[in-house]
Amino acid sequence: MSVNKIIKRVTTSTIKDMKLRGEKISMLTGYDFSTARALDEGGIDVILVGDSAANVFAGYETTLPMSLDHMIYHASAVSRATKRAMVLVDLPFGTYQGSTEKAYEAAVRMMKESGAHALKMEGGIEIIDNIKKIVRAGIPVCGHLGLTPQSIYQFGDFGVRAKEEAEASKLKSDALALQDAGCFAIVLEKIPAKLATEVSQSLHIPTIGIGAGNGCDGQVLVVNDMLGLTKDFKPKFLRQYLHLFDDIAKATAQYVADVKALDYPNENEQY
Ligand code: KIV
Repeated sequence: MSVNKIIKRVTTSTIKDMKLRGEKISMLTGYDFSTARALDEGGIDVILVGDSAANVFAGYETTLPMSLDHMIYHASAVSRATKRAMVLVDLPFGTYQGSTEKAYEAAVRMMKESGAHALKMEGGIEIIDNIKKIVRAGIPVCGHLGLTPQSIYQFGDFGVRAKEEAEASKLKSDALALQDAGCFAIVLEKIPAKLATEVSQSLHIPTIGIGAGNGCDGQVLVVNDMLGLTKDFKPKFLRQYLHLFDDIAKATAQYVADVKALDYPNENEQY
């Protein structure tokens, strides 16, 4: 007799409840079908189809070149792979910072074509009307404050944000505005741990930190970084669980040697 295990999908209510219970939320980025399947099987709560695909998948220096079509392509592959994890996808640069109507159209297209369950948008009060319109349409939105990579040319570098009082104070009021606008969660990227803890405690929606300390309600890492697939990128906050770059290079060298030595394929590896 086969027993079909019923897998319950992680939803926005699940992660809000996790905050209430004090259970930490786990999030990793994902960009492709095979990796997303493994993340889902490993029990990840949320897979973020981040526009960091621009960096780790496509080799761009910034996330700015990503288009709505690129993000739909990645998000639909991840959506097809997951049974339990919530699939959250970034709206890319230029699709939601302008008119409310255009932001709404981008959000609707992403939801219709990607199979994702929620959207992430970078910024605070500047985009609040656009977020409100999207939330009113029934689309769950996750905010993103602190180091917001789509604004990198305004910041000038990828350093820690909100170290000074003025920026910290704006971040706190932005977080409250995002909560009031109906966001179900907020990513806090590369800000002092003390500030992230204060913001997390001031909100009833969960915060997900990256380089923001353990006072956040959850954590997110770029999957290529935590698997050691990204070469020469080791910021202080990153914990590497594997060293895939070196493993892949070693496996490749062995394959090359086997082919050249006529060792591969052997008798059992042919028809
Ligand atoms: O695009 C991304 O991967 C992100 C995370 C760094 C939070 O936004």
